[in-house]
Amino acid sequence: MNDNYSIEISDLTKVFGSRIIFNKINFKRDTPGLAGIAGPNGSGKSTLVKVIAGLLTQSSGTIKHYLGGKEVHQNSVYSVVGFASPYVYLYDEFSALENLEISMKIRGLKPDQENFKALLDRFTLWPRRNDPVKAYSSGMKQRLKLIFSVIHSPGLIIWDEPTANLDSDGKHRVYELASELAKESIVVFATNEETEIGMCSEVINILDYKNNK
Ligand SMILES: Nc1ncnc2c1ncn2[C@@H]1O[C@H](COP(=O)(O)OP(=O)(O)OP(=O)(O)O)[C@@H](O)[C@H]1O
Ligand SMILES: [Mg+2]
Repeated sequence: MNDNYSIEISDLTKVFGSRIIFNKINFKRDTPGLAGIAGPNGSGKSTLVKVIAGLLTQSSGTIKHYLGGKEVHQNSVYSVVGFASPYVYLYDEFSALENLEISMKIRGLKPDQENFKALLDRFTLWPRRNDPVKAYSSGMKQRLKLIFSVIHSPGLIIWDEPTANLDSDGKHRVYELASELAKESIVVFATNEETEIGMCSEVINILDYKNNK
């Protein structure tokens, strides 16, 4: 489904002014699974995932995404990456279903109503599918953001604070979906939650990349 997605990060470095956020991160993965990015508040998790997703430019180093062994052009990275975070915004005036349809159309893909129903159902949002997102609670918005990030079957799924605003039922549903998706895709959690880091088969700790070496 994801056509053999793989990622290669080499000497990735980000500084803001004279502050080193991370220095020379190297990471390579060509198999599906769950990976974690850990570190305390303000350490650089969100900065790193923004750079990986192509939303922020690195100071130096490279990130290469591959599909079936071929490097993905910079302009197409958005189609192989699924991203959910507290700073991704949904279209507030539109309904959940319209948000999903728009997102697929922007990507030049055909809206898959069955997939929308299955995902909205599993996050208990199907009965509220026609409500405008501005009428959603914060936990409902978080559920929709996660759905939003996976409807185009990305090879790399990055969830920054995946369970922010979620109750225990929501958390359980997120972990279940992440485990399923990790059979075919690389799923990355950027998180402070011990449970989430514990689910990951490999973890990048930002604090290991603070030295100017
Ligand atoms: N645009 C920016 N300009 C300057 N500094 C920034 C900018 N964005 C982030 N930073 C700084 O980079 C550091 C890392 O921030 P980041 O948001 O990546 O941390 P985080 O690990 O995600 O923290 P949290 O757990 O609180 O979400 C912080 O010191 C922050 O102040
Ligand atoms: Mg953060």
